Amino acid sequence: MEIFGVDIGGSGIKGAPVDLERGDLAQERYKVLTPHPATPEAVAKGVKEVVDSFGARPDRVGITFPGVVTGGSTIRTAANVDKSWVDVDARALLGAELDGLPVTVLNDADAAGVAEMEFGAGRGRKDTVLMLTFGTGIGSALFSEGVLVPNTELGHLELDGHDAERRASTKVKEDHDMSWEHWAHRVQKYLAHVEMLFSPDLFVIGGGVSRKAHKFLPLIEGIKAEIVPAQLQNNAGIVGAARAASRG
Ligand code: BGC
Repeated sequence: MEIFGVDIGGSGIKGAPVDLERGDLAQERYKVLTPHPATPEAVAKGVKEVVDSFGARPDRVGITFPGVVTGGSTIRTAANVDKSWVDVDARALLGAELDGLPVTVLNDADAAGVAEMEFGAGRGRKDTVLMLTFGTGIGSALFSEGVLVPNTELGHLELDGHDAERRASTKVKEDHDMSWEHWAHRVQKYLAHVEMLFSPDLFVIGGGVSRKAHKFLPLIEGIKAEIVPAQLQNNAGIVGAARAASRG
């Protein structure tokens, strides 16, 4: 079965056919910029462009969304995309745009977590694993016994009187031209808060910044849980979306 994964992010929409034996992309990924405003119709067109770029019709497509997705279909929040997504039936919208292809929609961090648990840093772990993705926002995916609790949204915990992702996302680091030390201090504070609430055994740190884990993970102190970078790095969302689609 040919399965594609597509990752809708705050800055780009990227996708590829996925090899689910290896847990990796089967072809180089294709990316378009996320339209602004990122309305449902404009983003759906971007998704179609990505899928069409591979010139073959897949059997199924898994698609991530950067917000709460309930029932595998309905968008409930849209922190970093256009608010008109709220209450949209994304499975129906994206399926229609893709000429009736069966699509599976899930939260982007949940997808990344699924990929890491299956193929990456969380493989074989049955204890409590918390994947956190640092990017435009902060995403979270919580696993116990390898089972996902979807839509945890821990990026919106309150930290120092602010939404945590407004303090510690990589976008904030870039917007304020923060040093690694300064940013790592904020991430450490955030991890300590999350640890106090959930006592995970393992934190998997994902998002584009996981490629630079050596620059900030060594600066983080005082956390009891193991902390490791994601292994699939920026492809985790695509692979996890395809994995979810393969389960139907
Ligand atoms: C959204 C989450 C998402 C995260 C990463 C947050 O603002 O609320 O649903 O997983 O950003 O994109």
